[in-house]
Amino acid sequence: MQRRVRRKEKFNFGINERKRILKKIFMEKKIKVFAPATVSNVGPGFDIMGFALNQPGDVIEVALSKGKEIRIKKIYGSRNLPYNPSKNIATASIISLLRLRNIKVGLDVVIRKNMGIGSGLGSSAASSVAGVFAVNKLLDLKLSKSELLVHALNGELISSGTLHADNVAPCLFGGFVLIRSYDPLDIIKIDYPENLFCTVIYPHIEIKTSEARRILDKKITRDNAIAQAGNASGLIAGLITNDIDLISRSMKDYIAEPKRKELIPCYDVVRIAALANGAVNCNISGSGPSMFSFSTSLEDARRIASAMKEAALSKGLRSETFISKINSRGPVIIK
Ligand code: HSE
Repeated sequence: MQRRVRRKEKFNFGINERKRILKKIFMEKKIKVFAPATVSNVGPGFDIMGFALNQPGDVIEVALSKGKEIRIKKIYGSRNLPYNPSKNIATASIISLLRLRNIKVGLDVVIRKNMGIGSGLGSSAASSVAGVFAVNKLLDLKLSKSELLVHALNGELISSGTLHADNVAPCLFGGFVLIRSYDPLDIIKIDYPENLFCTVIYPHIEIKTSEARRILDKKITRDNAIAQAGNASGLIAGLITNDIDLISRSMKDYIAEPKRKELIPCYDVVRIAALANGAVNCNISGSGPSMFSFSTSLEDARRIASAMKEAALSKGLRSETFISKINSRGPVIIK
């Protein structure tokens, strides 16, 4: 599904709106935004479900400059990301926003990556969302999150070459998100149990989303389509009705997991360790290698984290673990 997200018409601000933006520009010179990591797919929700974590997350600082260019001043936490603003996800999404709104302004951008590229934690989505969220606030554009989503998705498109919103949407809106449809985009926020904890393990290998998508079958059988639809519906129903058993038995994936687990050498042992330590269930986060499990207490979440880490190490893989409830806020301005 390769298509650029684009609005049909250019949107130009009127004279009063421009005056207000200029005034704002002279008042505030820079802003720093944190945008969270996300777990996408969530088992049976390939490309259509995701939720935000409290940590890790990327931080983007955007400052007004005298020129008319968008420049990346510094990237911390990664040596491999491009400094070319149209090739870097964070600035590409900003450029998409400014172009469509016909705003010419100079911006200096500093990017702090706090998670690995190809980690399966929505690293590119976090940068993309942080970028557009920061510029919207800095210039006081008053764009809604739905309007920002289009530009953040354009950034994501650059990174993976495909359009999938299951990282960008939960990162931007916060909470647990269902993408009911891509054309037109229909994003629905889903309630979830208050006591749901997520343990994430990030084994230190890189899996490119493009590669993890390439290995998937282009078509699925009718039996698998039925099973997937049943589980996806069951997961949503379980989340809404606080039915932990239903969540547990619905977290099975017939599209991505059977192929992608082969890319994660510790997949089986980590999953077994999580389940043996009280996990509600466990699956791949996004396109991997990160894996996530749900549990219903902080104590369980911590025990599961240690067990997962030990299991990964038994396969020779070092890893990081994160424990988080579902983050309901999405991106935030920080000092
Ligand atoms: N839904 C996407 C995939 C998420 O699984 O390819 C990538 O982070």
